[in-house]
Amino acid sequence: MSDNRVALVTGASRGIGAAIAARLAADGWDLGISSRGREALEQRADELRDAGAGRVEVIPADMTDPDAVEGLAAAHAEAFGRCDALVINAGMGQKGAVADLPVRRFDRLYQVNVRAPYILLQSLIPTLRSTAQAHGSSKVIAVASITGVYPEPQLSAYGATKAALISLCETFNLEESLNGVSATTIAPGYVDTDMSDWLKDKIPGDEMITVDDVATMAHAATQLSRFAVLPNVILTRPGANLHRA
Ligand SMILES: NC(=O)c1ccc[n+]([C@@H]2O[C@H](COP(=O)([O-])OP(=O)(O)OC[C@H]3O[C@@H](n4cnc5c(N)ncnc54)[C@H](OP(=O)(O)O)[C@@H]3O)[C@@H](O)[C@H]2O)c1
Repeated sequence: MSDNRVALVTGASRGIGAAIAARLAADGWDLGISSRGREALEQRADELRDAGAGRVEVIPADMTDPDAVEGLAAAHAEAFGRCDALVINAGMGQKGAVADLPVRRFDRLYQVNVRAPYILLQSLIPTLRSTAQAHGSSKVIAVASITGVYPEPQLSAYGATKAALISLCETFNLEESLNGVSATTIAPGYVDTDMSDWLKDKIPGDEMITVDDVATMAHAATQLSRFAVLPNVILTRPGANLHRA
């Protein structure tokens, strides 16, 4: 039985999730990695092993499917029996004013950005608690958005799901932190990934927050003892308006 710390990282195929997985791999963690497509994950898994990860398991799951999300949690628990860090990162964006955005799009955002995190938290509580009991602490790191703290025009539905995610994790802390399990939400402004491509004619990617910035914060949160709870970290971009994405 390995002594490596173990993480489950969702949305690990690219962007912020891939960067967080790479940071943990460099520290020698064992990793469960998830997103929808197996092929991209298999490629990431090879890179993570080369970068220093111990065991890497690929567990595809679509976050819009509640049974698949439950299955992901069960497969991770079965494979590793341990979860030092649950990185809830898979998410989707959707732009549109309240006047225009169809409710079915809101529902999909909610499924991926809030319902799936809830299912993951609920399903993995036993593993998170037993890991904390055996090894001192376990952490949840959920990638939210600055729009969940400071609303942004055109991002009402997205921001609402991220505000819900932040609230969910704060309540989780009230309920679980005395068990050694605590959650940190990271709430960045625009990060240079595929998700922010729609905006790059206005804000060039090389002026956005980097995926490594977010990975650095996520990694830091995994280093805290059970006696420190870090509820929310806001990462904003330089300039005169710190409350804008
Ligand atoms: N980029 C930004 O400006 C920004 C700012 C603040 C917060 N965030 C948040 O950061 C997180 C990561 O986003 P990113 O910027 O890295 O975006 P990205 O490059 O588009 O990556 C999104 C990740 O989520 C996965 N994903 C999307 N829909 C999924 C679904 N239905 N089921 C399973 N996996 C799914 C994708 O995997 P597959 O497509 O391979 O399934 C991919 O791995 C998200 O929660 C996002 O809301 C992003």
